[in-house]
Amino acid sequence: MKNIQDCYGINENGHLTLGGVDTVDMAKKYGTPLYLLDEDKIRRQCAIYKNALKKYFPEGSMPFYASKALSFVDIYKIVKDEGLGIDIVSSGELYTALAAGFDVTNACFHGNNKTDFDIEYGIKSGVGYIVVDSQEELCAVDEIAGKLGKEQKILLRITPGIDPHTLKAISTGRVDSKFGTPIIEGKAEQITKAALEKKNARLCGFHCHVGSQIFEPDPFIEASGVMLRFISDIKDKFGYETDVLNLGGGFAVKYLAEHAEVNIPEYIESIARNISSLCEKYSIKMPKIFMEPGRSIVAGAGVTLYTVGTRKEIPGFKNYISIDGGMPDNPRYALYQSPYTVLCANRANEAPDYKATVCGRCCESGDLIAEDIQVQKMDRGDTLAVLVTGAYNYSMASNYNRIPRAPIVLIKNGNDRLSVRRESFEDLIKNEVL
Ligand code: LLP
Repeated sequence: MKNIQDCYGINENGHLTLGGVDTVDMAKKYGTPLYLLDEDKIRRQCAIYKNALKKYFPEGSMPFYASKALSFVDIYKIVKDEGLGIDIVSSGELYTALAAGFDVTNACFHGNNKTDFDIEYGIKSGVGYIVVDSQEELCAVDEIAGKLGKEQKILLRITPGIDPHTLKAISTGRVDSKFGTPIIEGKAEQITKAALEKKNARLCGFHCHVGSQIFEPDPFIEASGVMLRFISDIKDKFGYETDVLNLGGGFAVKYLAEHAEVNIPEYIESIARNISSLCEKYSIKMPKIFMEPGRSIVAGAGVTLYTVGTRKEIPGFKNYISIDGGMPDNPRYALYQSPYTVLCANRANEAPDYKATVCGRCCESGDLIAEDIQVQKMDRGDTLAVLVTGAYNYSMASNYNRIPRAPIVLIKNGNDRLSVRRESFEDLIKNEVL
């Protein structure tokens, strides 16, 4: 269990710990379901990216935390403190970042269908880069920036046509992707030419993102190869020198003991070596490199705690352990059959000798967290922990079945602090016009 992430442990009472804090105590203090996050671990992950980009890429290169993985006010404060930029994907994320006092000149504003409102809000708020997805959006950004009397820096999102061999739902750089402009049939060249002619949108470079939960550096190496060839062609055709190449996010995280460890600095070094030799080959200046890690910054720092309700044995079929949460706080198994490590937090030192399916409390058979896994035999009142839930859990949570969203507690230097309150029943109806 400890070898999954360095922030987990088991104390003398046999209880699971996160960042040295007893998770069973946390469940008692704050109730369940509960998202626990190790702030120190998040900061360590930020530093790994910051240092590696600084070491291997030209000055001005930097990581932008992809906040779709986990967005709430305190996370932007932490990331700001660690000196990272942010990737935002909606006006809601932008609003939350601004509420945290984030300097959004260090932000990339994404989205395959930004509305005029989004574009105007982004420009007025001073976002550093709008990552333009299409010709229509390019025209809209130029026009709105002109109306506001501002010059807006942009990157063009290009689809390099790479298949990263991850889940189809989270693979985004393939040629048939809904994101960006493909290189095929001169499409990317056309949008670049159009961007260079704009008065209020200033082209600063290109962006690509191949997918998420990628274990090997090869798709990134392949994508950067395609992008540099494109950048070199653009230089030859239009005399335009690219200042920024944004390679997106996507490094995998270890959810299970049998998953391989992604060595982030090593992978970045191998990507950098390839980029530098290609820049030499094409005689182009090495652009500043941006990366947008989301999952690998926050996933490992998170644990979700639940209280076990019933245990149901259906002989010859399944043993169900029911918890007081489920797809409203973690829809990832229901959506992608994503694997998780589950254990009994109050008996973490005991052998996982019971085969069970962990199910949520929603009126829906697909409301599962894990199927047919080995865990400790748990009964009513036990605390069940799901590990590595820091990414795409809270940010994808819903109120399905009118279940209030769970709170977030941050652990720092062995101390706990409530960062996001549990939703109340009043919150559930607060937008209803009564
Ligand atoms: N940059 C862009 C443009 C992206 O689209 C994404 C993720 C990232 C960065 C961050 O990728 P990461 O480092 O987190 O892999 N809900 C899915 C994941 C969707 C990812 C979408 N884009 C899940 O729960 O697995």
